[in-house]
Amino acid sequence: MSLVTMNEVFPIAEEKKIAIPAFNVDTLEIAQAVLETIEEENAPSIIAVGQAAIKDGKLEALASIVTLLAGKMKTPVVLHLDHGQNFEQVIKALRAGYSSVMIDGSTLSLADNIAVTKQTLQAAHAVGASVEAELGAILGSEDNISHDDSKPFLVKVQDVVDFTSAVDVDALAVGIGNAHGLYKGRPNLDFGRLREVAEVCPAPLVLHGGSGIPADMIKTAIEIGIRKINVATEVRLSYVKGLNAESRSEDYYTMTNSGKCCVKELVREKIRLFSRR
Ligand code: 13P
Repeated sequence: MSLVTMNEVFPIAEEKKIAIPAFNVDTLEIAQAVLETIEEENAPSIIAVGQAAIKDGKLEALASIVTLLAGKMKTPVVLHLDHGQNFEQVIKALRAGYSSVMIDGSTLSLADNIAVTKQTLQAAHAVGASVEAELGAILGSEDNISHDDSKPFLVKVQDVVDFTSAVDVDALAVGIGNAHGLYKGRPNLDFGRLREVAEVCPAPLVLHGGSGIPADMIKTAIEIGIRKINVATEVRLSYVKGLNAESRSEDYYTMTNSGKCCVKELVREKIRLFSRR
Protein backbone atom coordinates (compact mmCIF):
# COMPACT_ATOMS: atom_id res chain seq x y z
CA MET A 1 0.00 0.00 0.00
CA SER A 2 0.98 3.65 -0.32
CA LEU A 3 2.72 5.33 2.59
CA VAL A 4 0.49 6.53 5.41
CA THR A 5 1.02 9.29 7.99
CA MET A 6 1.41 8.99 11.75
CA ASN A 7 -2.24 10.02 12.03
CA GLU A 8 -3.26 6.71 10.46
CA VAL A 9 -1.20 4.56 12.84
CA PHE A 10 -1.62 6.38 16.17
CA PRO A 11 -5.31 5.46 16.51
CA ILE A 12 -4.25 1.79 16.28
CA ALA A 13 -1.68 2.37 19.02
CA GLU A 14 -4.18 4.23 21.19
CA GLU A 15 -6.84 1.56 20.81
CA LYS A 16 -4.44 -1.28 21.66
CA LYS A 17 -2.45 0.76 24.24
CA ILE A 18 0.82 -0.04 22.43
CA ALA A 19 3.67 2.00 20.92
CA ILE A 20 4.35 2.22 17.20
CA PRO A 21 8.01 1.39 16.54
CA ALA A 22 10.11 3.85 14.55
CA PHE A 23 13.16 2.15 13.08
CA ASN A 24 15.94 4.23 11.56
CA VAL A 25 17.25 2.79 8.29
CA ASP A 26 20.60 3.66 6.76
CA THR A 27 21.00 1.31 3.81
CA LEU A 28 18.95 -0.62 1.26
CA GLU A 29 19.69 -3.89 3.05
CA ILE A 30 18.62 -2.55 6.45
CA ALA A 31 15.42 -1.16 4.90
CA GLN A 32 14.71 -4.56 3.31
CA ALA A 33 15.24 -6.40 6.60
CA VAL A 34 13.14 -3.96 8.64
CA LEU A 35 10.25 -3.84 6.16
CA GLU A 36 10.19 -7.63 5.68
CA THR A 37 9.86 -8.10 9.43
CA ILE A 38 7.16 -5.44 9.75
CA GLU A 39 5.15 -7.30 7.09
CA GLU A 40 5.73 -10.70 8.69
CA GLU A 41 4.61 -9.34 12.06
CA ASN A 42 1.75 -7.32 10.53
CA ALA A 43 2.85 -4.38 12.69
CA PRO A 44 2.09 -0.85 11.43
CA SER A 45 5.41 0.97 11.78
CA ILE A 46 7.43 4.07 11.07
CA ILE A 47 10.58 4.04 8.96
CA ALA A 48 12.78 6.94 9.98
CA VAL A 49 15.64 8.50 8.07
CA GLY A 50 18.01 10.29 10.41
CA GLN A 51 20.66 12.95 10.20
CA ALA A 52 23.57 10.49 9.82
CA ALA A 53 21.97 9.01 6.69
CA ILE A 54 21.18 12.51 5.42
CA LYS A 55 24.79 13.64 5.94
CA ASP A 56 25.71 10.59 3.89
CA GLY A 57 23.59 11.99 1.02
CA LYS A 58 20.67 9.54 1.30
CA LEU A 59 17.61 11.69 2.05
CA GLU A 60 16.07 11.14 -1.39
CA ALA A 61 17.47 7.67 -2.18
CA LEU A 62 16.20 6.11 1.05
CA ALA A 63 12.80 7.73 0.46
CA SER A 64 12.57 6.11 -2.97
CA ILE A 65 13.63 2.72 -1.64
CA VAL A 66 11.20 2.76 1.30
CA THR A 67 8.31 4.06 -0.85
CA LEU A 68 8.91 1.29 -3.40
CA LEU A 69 9.19 -1.51 -0.85
CA ALA A 70 6.27 -0.27 1.29
CA GLY A 71 4.14 -0.07 -1.87
CA LYS A 72 4.32 -3.87 -2.15
CA MET A 73 3.22 -4.45 1.46
CA LYS A 74 -0.15 -4.88 3.15
CA THR A 75 1.00 -3.39 6.48
CA PRO A 76 0.81 0.41 6.86
CA VAL A 77 4.20 2.15 6.79
CA VAL A 78 5.02 5.80 7.59
CA LEU A 79 8.15 7.36 6.04
CA HIS A 80 9.43 9.90 8.55
CA LEU A 81 12.20 12.51 8.64
CA ASP A 82 13.96 12.12 12.01
CA HIS A 83 15.20 15.26 13.83
CA GLY A 84 14.54 17.65 10.96
CA GLN A 85 17.09 20.42 11.48
CA ASN A 86 15.29 23.35 9.94
CA PHE A 87 12.43 24.34 7.65
CA GLU A 88 14.56 23.92 4.50
CA GLN A 89 15.30 20.29 5.34
CA VAL A 90 11.62 19.66 6.05
CA ILE A 91 10.72 20.99 2.60
CA LYS A 92 13.38 18.77 0.97
CA ALA A 93 11.90 15.74 2.74
CA LEU A 94 8.34 16.62 1.75
CA ARG A 95 9.44 17.03 -1.88
CA ALA A 96 11.17 13.65 -1.68
CA GLY A 97 7.88 12.03 -0.63
CA TYR A 98 8.16 11.70 3.15
CA SER A 99 4.69 11.21 4.63
CA SER A 100 5.81 12.56 7.99
CA VAL A 101 8.45 14.95 9.33
CA MET A 102 9.97 15.87 12.63
CA ILE A 103 11.07 19.43 13.27
CA ASP A 104 13.53 19.48 16.14
CA GLY A 105 13.38 22.91 17.70
CA SER A 106 14.33 21.63 21.14
CA THR A 107 17.54 23.64 21.28
CA LEU A 108 15.69 26.89 20.52
CA SER A 109 13.78 29.13 22.91
CA LEU A 110 10.17 28.06 23.43
CA ALA A 111 8.97 30.97 21.28
CA ASP A 112 11.33 30.06 18.41
CA ASN A 113 10.46 26.37 18.71
CA ILE A 114 6.77 27.30 18.44
CA ALA A 115 7.49 29.53 15.42
CA VAL A 116 9.45 26.94 13.41
CA THR A 117 6.96 24.18 14.35
CA LYS A 118 4.05 26.37 13.15
CA GLN A 119 5.82 26.98 9.85
CA THR A 120 6.47 23.23 9.49
CA LEU A 121 2.87 22.32 10.34
CA GLN A 122 1.55 24.68 7.69
CA ALA A 123 3.76 23.23 4.96
CA ALA A 124 3.45 19.56 5.98
CA HIS A 125 -0.30 19.60 6.53
CA ALA A 126 -0.78 21.36 3.19
CA VAL A 127 0.62 18.27 1.47
CA GLY A 128 -1.00 15.75 3.84
CA ALA A 129 2.08 14.88 5.92
CA SER A 130 2.20 14.57 9.72
CA VAL A 131 4.49 16.47 12.10
CA GLU A 132 6.42 15.57 15.25
CA ALA A 133 7.98 18.27 17.44
CA GLU A 134 10.30 18.05 20.44
CA LEU A 135 10.46 19.60 23.90
CA GLY A 136 13.22 19.04 26.43
CA ALA A 137 16.65 17.83 25.46
CA ILE A 138 17.25 14.26 24.38
CA LEU A 139 20.77 13.56 25.46
CA GLY A 140 23.63 11.92 23.58
CA SER A 141 24.26 12.14 19.88
CA GLU A 142 22.73 10.18 17.06
CA ASP A 143 26.13 9.48 15.53
CA ASN A 144 27.90 8.32 18.68
CA ILE A 145 27.10 5.34 20.79
CA SER A 146 28.00 6.75 24.17
CA HIS A 147 26.99 9.82 26.14
CA ASP A 148 26.84 11.35 29.55
CA ASP A 149 23.43 10.59 31.04
CA SER A 150 24.22 11.77 34.54
CA LYS A 151 22.29 15.05 34.15
CA PRO A 152 18.94 14.40 32.52
CA PHE A 153 17.43 17.53 31.04
CA LEU A 154 13.74 17.09 31.75
CA VAL A 155 10.89 18.55 29.76
CA LYS A 156 8.96 21.19 31.72
CA VAL A 157 5.27 20.46 32.17
CA GLN A 158 4.31 24.13 31.71
CA ASP A 159 6.25 24.18 28.41
CA VAL A 160 4.13 21.25 27.20
CA VAL A 161 0.95 23.16 28.12
CA ASP A 162 2.16 26.38 26.43
CA PHE A 163 3.57 24.60 23.37
CA THR A 164 0.57 22.38 22.65
CA SER A 165 -1.88 25.23 23.11
CA ALA A 166 0.07 27.23 20.51
CA VAL A 167 0.71 24.43 17.96
CA ASP A 168 -1.45 21.43 17.11
CA VAL A 169 1.28 18.86 16.51
CA ASP A 170 0.59 15.24 15.52
CA ALA A 171 3.20 13.89 17.96
CA LEU A 172 5.45 15.30 20.66
CA ALA A 173 8.88 13.94 21.65
CA VAL A 174 9.79 14.69 25.25
CA GLY A 175 13.05 14.59 27.17
CA ILE A 176 12.63 12.54 30.36
CA GLY A 177 16.27 11.53 30.79
CA ASN A 178 16.30 9.43 27.61
CA ALA A 179 19.31 9.57 25.30
CA HIS A 180 20.43 8.56 21.85
CA GLY A 181 23.02 5.79 21.76
CA LEU A 182 23.58 3.07 24.32
CA TYR A 183 23.01 3.77 28.03
CA LYS A 184 25.71 3.23 30.60
CA GLY A 185 23.82 1.03 33.02
CA ARG A 186 20.11 1.38 33.65
CA PRO A 187 18.63 4.51 32.03
CA ASN A 188 17.61 7.28 34.38
CA LEU A 189 14.07 7.86 33.08
CA ASP A 190 11.75 10.11 35.07
CA PHE A 191 8.38 8.38 34.85
CA GLY A 192 6.90 10.84 37.35
CA ARG A 193 7.55 13.66 34.88
CA LEU A 194 6.24 11.54 32.00
CA ARG A 195 2.98 10.98 33.93
CA GLU A 196 2.60 14.73 34.55
CA VAL A 197 3.25 15.41 30.86
CA ALA A 198 0.82 12.69 29.71
CA GLU A 199 -1.93 14.33 31.77
CA VAL A 200 -1.64 17.67 30.00
CA CYS A 201 -0.46 16.71 26.48
CA PRO A 202 -3.18 16.30 23.86
CA ALA A 203 -0.73 14.86 21.28
CA PRO A 204 0.64 11.27 21.19
CA LEU A 205 3.95 11.14 23.09
CA VAL A 206 7.22 9.92 21.59
CA LEU A 207 10.16 8.31 23.33
CA HIS A 208 13.49 8.79 21.57
CA GLY A 209 16.62 6.83 22.47
CA GLY A 210 14.85 3.46 22.50
CA SER A 211 18.09 1.45 22.12
CA GLY A 212 19.03 -0.29 25.34
CA ILE A 213 15.97 0.66 27.40
CA PRO A 214 15.11 -2.47 29.40
CA ALA A 215 11.79 -4.23 28.72
CA ASP A 216 10.23 -3.32 32.07
CA MET A 217 10.91 0.39 31.49
CA ILE A 218 9.50 0.21 27.95
CA LYS A 219 6.34 -1.38 29.36
CA THR A 220 5.99 1.35 32.00
CA ALA A 221 6.51 4.10 29.40
CA ILE A 222 3.79 2.60 27.19
CA GLU A 223 1.41 2.21 30.14
CA ILE A 224 1.88 5.91 30.92
CA GLY A 225 1.09 6.88 27.34
CA ILE A 226 4.13 6.68 25.04
CA ARG A 227 2.79 5.85 21.56
CA LYS A 228 5.96 5.94 19.42
CA ILE A 229 9.41 4.59 20.32
CA ASN A 230 12.49 5.31 18.21
CA VAL A 231 15.24 2.74 17.71
CA ALA A 232 18.35 3.57 15.68
CA THR A 233 21.59 2.51 17.36
CA GLU A 234 20.53 -1.08 18.00
CA VAL A 235 19.39 -1.48 14.38
CA ARG A 236 22.79 -0.35 13.11
CA LEU A 237 24.71 -2.39 15.67
CA SER A 238 22.78 -5.55 14.82
CA TYR A 239 23.54 -5.11 11.12
CA VAL A 240 27.26 -4.61 11.85
CA LYS A 241 27.24 -7.63 14.18
CA GLY A 242 25.84 -9.75 11.33
CA LEU A 243 28.45 -8.45 8.87
CA ASN A 244 31.25 -9.13 11.34
CA ALA A 245 30.03 -12.65 12.02
CA GLU A 246 30.63 -13.53 8.34
CA SER A 247 33.56 -11.22 7.59
CA ARG A 248 35.91 -14.14 7.08
CA SER A 249 33.74 -15.48 4.27
CA GLU A 250 34.74 -12.44 2.17
CA ASP A 251 31.52 -13.00 0.24
CA TYR A 252 29.34 -9.89 -0.05
CA TYR A 253 25.97 -11.65 0.06
CA THR A 254 26.97 -14.03 2.83
CA MET A 255 27.90 -10.97 4.89
CA THR A 256 24.89 -8.79 4.08
CA ASN A 257 22.45 -11.70 4.52
CA SER A 258 23.95 -12.33 7.92
CA GLY A 259 23.51 -8.61 8.71
CA LYS A 260 19.90 -8.72 7.56
CA CYS A 261 19.17 -11.79 9.72
CA CYS A 262 20.46 -9.95 12.81
CA VAL A 263 18.39 -6.85 11.97
CA LYS A 264 15.28 -8.99 11.49
CA GLU A 265 15.76 -10.66 14.85
CA LEU A 266 16.16 -7.28 16.62
CA VAL A 267 13.20 -5.69 14.83
CA ARG A 268 10.95 -8.66 15.65
CA GLU A 269 11.94 -8.44 19.31
CA LYS A 270 11.20 -4.69 19.47
CA ILE A 271 7.87 -5.01 17.64
CA ARG A 272 6.73 -7.68 20.09
CA LEU A 273 7.95 -5.71 23.10
CA PHE A 274 6.32 -2.45 21.97
CA SER A 275 3.04 -4.23 21.18
CA ARG A 276 3.14 -6.00 24.54
CA ARG A 277 2.95 -9.44 22.87
P1 13P B 1 18.77 5.30 19.65
O1 13P B 1 19.86 5.46 18.67
O2 13P B 1 19.21 5.42 21.06
O3 13P B 1 17.97 4.05 19.43
O4 13P B 1 17.76 6.52 19.45
C1 13P B 1 17.05 6.59 18.28
C2 13P B 1 16.33 7.86 18.16
O5 13P B 1 15.77 8.37 19.10
C3 13P B 1 16.29 8.47 16.84
O6 13P B 1 15.66 9.69 16.83
